[in-house]
Amino acid sequence: MSKRDTFYITTPIYYPSDKLHIGHTYCTVATDAMARYKRLRGYDVMFLTGTDEHGQKIESKASAAGVTPQEFVDNIVIGENGITSLWKLMNISHDRFIRTTDDYHVTSIQKIFRAMYDKGDIYKSKYTGMYCTPCESFWTQSQLAGGKCPDCGREVQPAEEEAYFFRLSKYAQPVRDLLLNTDFLEPRSRVHEMVNNFIDAGLEDLCVSRTSFTWGVPVDFDPGHVVYVWVDALSNYITALGYGNDKYRDYEKYWPADVHFVGKEIVRFHAIVWPAMLMSMGLPLPKKVYGHGWLLLGGGKMSKSKGNVVDPQILASRYGVDALRFFLLRSFPFGADGNFSNELLISCINTDLANDLGNLVSRTTAMVQKYFGGKLPEQQQYDAAMDDALTAMLRALPEKYAAQMEKFAFQNALAEVFAVISAANKYIDETAPWILAKDEAQRARLACVMYHLLESVRVAAGLLQPFMPDASAQIAKRIGADALTWESICAFGALPRQAQVEVGAALFPRIDAASELEALEALHAQAQAPEEDPLPAPLPPIDFEDFSKVEMTVVKVLSCENVKKSEKLLKFSLDDGSGTPRQILSGIAKFYKAESLVGKTLVAVTNLQPRKMMGQESCGMLLSAERGQTLHLLMLDDSTPAGSRLC
Ligand code: MSP
Repeated sequence: MSKRDTFYITTPIYYPSDKLHIGHTYCTVATDAMARYKRLRGYDVMFLTGTDEHGQKIESKASAAGVTPQEFVDNIVIGENGITSLWKLMNISHDRFIRTTDDYHVTSIQKIFRAMYDKGDIYKSKYTGMYCTPCESFWTQSQLAGGKCPDCGREVQPAEEEAYFFRLSKYAQPVRDLLLNTDFLEPRSRVHEMVNNFIDAGLEDLCVSRTSFTWGVPVDFDPGHVVYVWVDALSNYITALGYGNDKYRDYEKYWPADVHFVGKEIVRFHAIVWPAMLMSMGLPLPKKVYGHGWLLLGGGKMSKSKGNVVDPQILASRYGVDALRFFLLRSFPFGADGNFSNELLISCINTDLANDLGNLVSRTTAMVQKYFGGKLPEQQQYDAAMDDALTAMLRALPEKYAAQMEKFAFQNALAEVFAVISAANKYIDETAPWILAKDEAQRARLACVMYHLLESVRVAAGLLQPFMPDASAQIAKRIGADALTWESICAFGALPRQAQVEVGAALFPRIDAASELEALEALHAQAQAPEEDPLPAPLPPIDFEDFSKVEMTVVKVLSCENVKKSEKLLKFSLDDGSGTPRQILSGIAKFYKAESLVGKTLVAVTNLQPRKMMGQESCGMLLSAERGQTLHLLMLDDSTPAGSRLC
């Protein structure tokens, strides 16, 4: 390989709709380990990550929070404790961070959309789906939850809107061939899932524009349409290199990507839609898509809505960033799901890091200090019977490790390193340096034993760099090693014999599992407590006279219906005790079904000036209690007579 061979690796770009959890961190840490490994091997690496900021969900969340969508995403992406600070904390070494709201990306998306349109692969038609009026959202049948809106749980109605479609069906055969006949998608098990469940089940054209919301990249030749978020998001992998924009000039250098790391639920977008889009644009395909498994909690997927997410910030602050990074890649096979638990985390730290690695480093450095004042003598005596096995393991290790890393088998790569760490700890017991130290005639032999231990530590630290960059650097410093390059890791004996060793505090202190588990549970529970909406600011005091000017009357609902063409208004006919029905319009359709209110006993302000809403007169206002996103009409016991006054 020439020094400047390139390696382009990406994570998915994350939705900034909530704080990221340990599942998101898992994928980013894996990508980071791979990027660091390739840099160690001398590649010119481009590691891209970023945020996927458009779409209806963001628009709705922003409006619920009372801010603009841009303010909303800015807060989650670059705000305090935002995504970029999480990656900084986790020591993520990305070379580029793309936000789909970046101007250059928006420009490129418009060009990409138009290119596929000009090619005849995008055409205008009608999108039919199920519409949730209160949420103003279109859903496909498969997105519905029990036939109802997956967001609010209410009834949906069939509806249609004008939309652009991408001729995905046209690419079914070439994509099928790609999946079946090449190593494009891994692990292999995911190929069959894609082919059987999606392609052979009938690949339909994909709706790639929306008119029901505005927070997206506008289709420049048809205002009112915004580009479907997945077309917008997938394209980030080339726009971030400068495709279709002047911001960067790296497309020729890095595209096609060597690998896209993606979670299993978004494999279908990466393994079907993305290659089809690239085929349409006549661009080369990425070399590989790797669909990793999920981190599960209690057997289920972590999700903010289920309230079962684990906060990486809490864990990193308690155990250190490197211990957390290590745990994630050591404990679960990357291609399959893994069950996260606090017990597993603590036992991994105690066993591998405190006992095996930590002990090896502290015993070795302490002995070199104690027996040789921190510096070994030149003269060392090799003992083939004792040393050959360890030396052979150390020499073979980099290649075995690399073979696993090339397959993205992080867990196995680490298992190789820890097999050598265990062997080195055993070597201490077998060579019993404390006995050699008692005999002056064994000094050269003792020095050789110590040197083998230092070399074991050095090689292990070198190979752990992609996983634990800071801890590895600290270890290298303690044993007086220079930069741990790949060449030096492969060269047993590269550590100068008289390197200056220093003793330091325990790198990974042992954790008291019982007390720590209790503390962790309390912390996670606290972190998941729903945030209360702030109380509104108090109003200035008023006179009793002012209060008594408000006429509040008990009313009974005679009839109630939705106001045509309005998504918010309900029209009430009310018995206010006067004998003449009173009409009131109220903007509460999002909270109540009209028919569910008939017969209820409510309270209305009945001396408000009448006003017109959607062309209809409203004589008064129904009282309700509001907090955050909730609203409850004030309802009285049905035995309260209509016309009673509140005082
Ligand atoms: N925005 C899209 C990706 C667009 S890529 C062109 C998206 N974003 S996401 O924020 O919802 O998820 C990002 C990644 O995090 C996905 O690959 C997803 O699989 C991963 N994970 C989210 N929860 C996870 C776990 N519990 N475990 C492992 N990975 C998980 O999808």
